[in-house]
Amino acid sequence: MIIRPRRLRKNETIRNMVAETAVNPDSLVYPMFVVEGEGIKEEIPSMPGQFRFSIDEILQELESCVIAGIKSILLFGIPDSKDEMATSAYDDDGIVQRAVRSIKAKFPALYVITDVCLCEYMSHGHCGIIKDGDVDNDPTLELLAKTAVSHARAGADMVAPSDMMDGRVAAIREKLDANGFANTPIMAYSAKFASAYYGPFRDAADSAPHFGNRKSYQMDVRNGREAQREVELDIEEGADIVMVKPGLAFLDILRQTAEISTVPVAVYNVSGEYSMVKAAAKMGWIDENSIIRENLLAMKRAGADIIITYHAKEALEKGLV
Ligand code: PBG
Ligand code: ZN
Repeated sequence: MIIRPRRLRKNETIRNMVAETAVNPDSLVYPMFVVEGEGIKEEIPSMPGQFRFSIDEILQELESCVIAGIKSILLFGIPDSKDEMATSAYDDDGIVQRAVRSIKAKFPALYVITDVCLCEYMSHGHCGIIKDGDVDNDPTLELLAKTAVSHARAGADMVAPSDMMDGRVAAIREKLDANGFANTPIMAYSAKFASAYYGPFRDAADSAPHFGNRKSYQMDVRNGREAQREVELDIEEGADIVMVKPGLAFLDILRQTAEISTVPVAVYNVSGEYSMVKAAAKMGWIDENSIIRENLLAMKRAGADIIITYHAKEALEKGLV
């Protein structure tokens, strides 16, 4: 036998020397939820270790995040009032806008990305304006663009539309530019599937649709070619970064996207993926730290440049990346 692959696996030193992949700590993005009120740090039951924070509490939490090495957060707002037009989504005094202003004032170097969607702000929980029982695409674009501009005005470093309306990247780009935010990048949730893996998030953000589902706008989980089309469209419309979501059950899509994309590729390791790890770890069925490391590496190996993950803080604190 001339060829023995095991020679390069002999000990830790040689294994480290030939390791092909490493997760870049600077490429981790930490999603966080902010609610109205004061003194609130409420653990999300289906996402142990993740919380809904009021603004004062998120500022405190961010101290330890920054010390751990978190460079960027993805912010979700949970408003007090919801209506049929998602009014509080694009209110300059909305929850996300006030949170961004406070966060950027205290942590100017922290890179703040805001999720741009309407579902948390709509009384019915859908990601756009409802007409005849379905989300009406074109009028929704206007509200999304207004929301993005309002986030940018509050100081958001980047906006991330997660609604999956057709043409939203172009609409947001146009309105950002017209309002003096030509340098604010857009990270588009491009290949976003209608996935059951968002279940725990919808508890966290109180954003589950009150009727029907999101299958008329989010992608069918059976489709890969369509994901390529969505990615190409978003790049044409001006997306600075494209995203695949969820991550672990869609690594084929992530690999495909990494191969065709001319812009950086992000992956969202979503709530359900996080919750499954936490649940199995709590049962003592898996070695949690090894699983987290392996999952992050899987997304990196598949081609992710940026990994959005609820594990970001613990991965940094425990030295898993
Ligand atoms: C809002 C949004 C969702 C997620 C990110 N932005 C939920 C959804 O589309 O229903 C999911 C994130 C997660 O599950 O961690 N549109
Ligand atoms: Zn939404």
